[in-house]
Amino acid sequence: MRRVVFQLISFISKTLWPQIPNIQILGSLLFLASLVCHKSGAQTQVLANNVVPEPFEVRSAKGYFTLNETHGFIVAKEFFNSNEIVNLQQLLKLKTGIELLPSKNPAKEGVAIKFNDSIKNSEGYLLEISQTGIRFEASHKKGLFYGIQTLRQLFPLSIEGENSGSLPFVIIKDTPRFSFRALMLDPARYFLPIEDMKRYVDVMAMYKFNRLHLHLTDDHGWRIEIKKYPKLTEIGSVRKETMGDGKPHGGFYTQKALKELVAYAKERHIEIIPEIDMPGHGISILAAYPELACFPKKFELSTTPGVSKELLCAGKEEVYQFYEDVLAEVVKIFPYNILHLGGDEAPLDQWKRSPHCQAMIHNNRLGDEEGLMAYFFGRINDILIKYKKEPIFWYESNVRHYPANSSLILWRNEHPDKMLREIQTRGLKMINSHGRSAYFDYPQWKGDLPNADWMPLLTLKDTYHFDPVRGLTDEESGFIKGVEAYVWGEYVPNLERAFYMTYPRALAFSEAAWSADKNRSWNSFLSKLEKQMLLLSENGVFFRPPVEYLNTN
Ligand code: ACM
Repeated sequence: MRRVVFQLISFISKTLWPQIPNIQILGSLLFLASLVCHKSGAQTQVLANNVVPEPFEVRSAKGYFTLNETHGFIVAKEFFNSNEIVNLQQLLKLKTGIELLPSKNPAKEGVAIKFNDSIKNSEGYLLEISQTGIRFEASHKKGLFYGIQTLRQLFPLSIEGENSGSLPFVIIKDTPRFSFRALMLDPARYFLPIEDMKRYVDVMAMYKFNRLHLHLTDDHGWRIEIKKYPKLTEIGSVRKETMGDGKPHGGFYTQKALKELVAYAKERHIEIIPEIDMPGHGISILAAYPELACFPKKFELSTTPGVSKELLCAGKEEVYQFYEDVLAEVVKIFPYNILHLGGDEAPLDQWKRSPHCQAMIHNNRLGDEEGLMAYFFGRINDILIKYKKEPIFWYESNVRHYPANSSLILWRNEHPDKMLREIQTRGLKMINSHGRSAYFDYPQWKGDLPNADWMPLLTLKDTYHFDPVRGLTDEESGFIKGVEAYVWGEYVPNLERAFYMTYPRALAFSEAAWSADKNRSWNSFLSKLEKQMLLLSENGVFFRPPVEYLNTN
């Protein structure tokens, strides 16, 4: 047991010592050590009621099932050669030491994977553990995948000792609340290697998230190779320093590497949504191609956080050609039907002064700059339509109206009436990412981010209490297709910090995304946290132990 404690301590101190105030390190170490020691002294007790996100229905019964070599492994033909079966074999081997080979022949006891097309939601599943073994039912590989994630959480942790293969009798019927359950990473601020993003994907998948939004471009860096515009990465991916550190920072993803990430995430049923932020947040473009600005000059990538007034010039035809070319390459990398076009924080000052923009407004009878915004996105959307894609936007009130196939993200702290009216009257879709619940770049405790004291606190409890339909009528709620939380990257220089900011808040958020409202309860979530935090540790994920809730255990 001591070995485990030492491993934890050494992991934490090696990876995080330089980044987190010492007091926090100390708290984390003591907390984890006490949990591990507490566990080592306790009788192994495996419960079926600490799954996160909370399943739709859990019926526990008395008794345990333990897999042995004589058991069979029957797999329906629909799932026979799937990755899910390989995953399940690996999990069973890891947890029980037993290697089962899939077969199409029935066995009296063991593991059974059935195809059941009466399970209407493709992400839904049934998982039953009884005297006869482990039985999954699903109508799609996605459902089977999520059933396996649940099984992973039902197994005891390795630190719980020899008996780690025993599973509690239970019947779980599960189905998600929302079809769109996203997290966002922001490698535009600090480049995150592809291998690190794969690790992030692995952990998201454990908690049934199914979209990873990548904020690939911003004033601080352009991160995606575009063959037709090589200067985007030659010039636009490197800033000379960050917040006065004097060290250049850069990096970009080749198209090949991004395709690899897309394939990796796909195996875990996660779609990658790329964001090409426009017409603001584009200084990395203007540094490389200044002629795309309304007022060309020498641009330098931003080195500090903040919103710039520099915009791509919607009055210039070259700008539309630029996006036509860029998006033609982007759509070949990301096969899914949505693409994020940004749209946030684009002040209109320059467009007001630009003769190009004023001529565009006049010639097309757009009225004013807000009309030009709508026109700009309408034309960019025409490019997406050619590729059968739909746009997602950060909702802003300075866009007169959005294209009819749009999804709008509610990300500020209020519910703008204009947005709700537009969604309702034009049938747009909405992603709820309310600023007070979904910004995982905000500190979890006072002192977490001494350099960004303007940021509000976002505690685990705040995140848990996120209710995606709060303040909305039933009709308005019907337009919500999902929820998303963000790890903006200004203060997130590497994967460890991204994990630290994400977990355990993403566990709370996963219940807002997946669990039926009637099944959500802060107290029951808290009772599941101990096991979940040990599971995260077992998977090498560094998180912030929420000591304020749990240190009395
Ligand atoms: C945003 O936080 N700029 C969408």
